Amino acid sequence: MTPFYFGSNFKMHQTPHETERFITALDQFLPAKLSTQLFLIPPFTSLPTAATALAKSTTWLGAQNMHWADAGAHTGETSPVMLRAVGVDLIMLGHAERRGQFGETDEALCKKVSAAAKHGLRILLCVGENANERNAGAAEQTITRQLQIALADLPLDYLPRVMIAYEPVWSIGEGGSPADTATVATMHDEIRHTLFSQFGKPGRTIPILYGGSVNPTNCAQYAALPQVDGLFVGRAAWTPEGFADVLNRALENRPES
Ligand code: PGA
Repeated sequence: MTPFYFGSNFKMHQTPHETERFITALDQFLPAKLSTQLFLIPPFTSLPTAATALAKSTTWLGAQNMHWADAGAHTGETSPVMLRAVGVDLIMLGHAERRGQFGETDEALCKKVSAAAKHGLRILLCVGENANERNAGAAEQTITRQLQIALADLPLDYLPRVMIAYEPVWSIGEGGSPADTATVATMHDEIRHTLFSQFGKPGRTIPILYGGSVNPTNCAQYAALPQVDGLFVGRAAWTPEGFADVLNRALENRPES
C-alpha cells in the first residue's frame, strides 16, 4: 500500500538549534502507529543537526535546492555530493519561490533532476501556474511544460524515487489563497495524465502532493481527494504542534493511512 506523504518546507526559517528542538518535540505529537511517510526540508545550515536528530527515524530529510554539478566554481551553491555527505535523502526542486525570486528555469531543473538521480537523492519536483497563467487559461499548459522539460532526461527506473508537488503560485505563502478542491482534483488529474504520456504506465504511480496554504481547516478536504497522495505544507507546519495537527486532521479522512 502506498503511504500518505506529508512534509514541510521551512523555507528561510529556523536555526539549527530551532530545527533540532522541532524534531525532538514532534515525536510527542505524532500518533504511535503512523503509516505516513514524513519529510522535513529545513534550511541548509540545519541539515547536519537535523540528520543527527532524525538518525533513528524513518522521516526523510530534504534540502531546498542544489546545483547540478558535483563541484566547481559556483559561489554560493551546494552540490548533490555535499548534500549526500550530510545525510540528505530528498531534494526539493523547482519551488515557486526559486523559480520566481531566483530565476530558476525548467532547463536548469532538468539538469538538477538528472544530477539528483545520479546521486541517489529522492526528488520532489514542484510545479504550479501563477495567477496570470491561470487567468489566461494556460494553467494546464504551464504545468505540462514544467513537467516535460524538468523530467525529460529522467531514467525510467528512477521513477519510484520521484514525487511531484502541485503548488499553484497564487495559493502559496502570505497573501496566497487556498485552491478549491475541484481545481486541485483537475490539476492533479492533468499532472497524472502528463506523467502517463511521458513515462507510460509507471508514470501513473508517481505520488502527487498538494501544497499551497494548507492549514488545519482545509487539509482534510484535500486529503479526501483520491487524486491527492500527500500534502506539502509551509506556514501551518512550522511548529511541531501545527505539523501534527494538520497531519492528524488530514488523516481523519483517510482511514486506510
Ligand atoms: P504555505 O507554503 O503552506 O505557507 O502556503 C507552501 C509552500 O510554499 O510550499
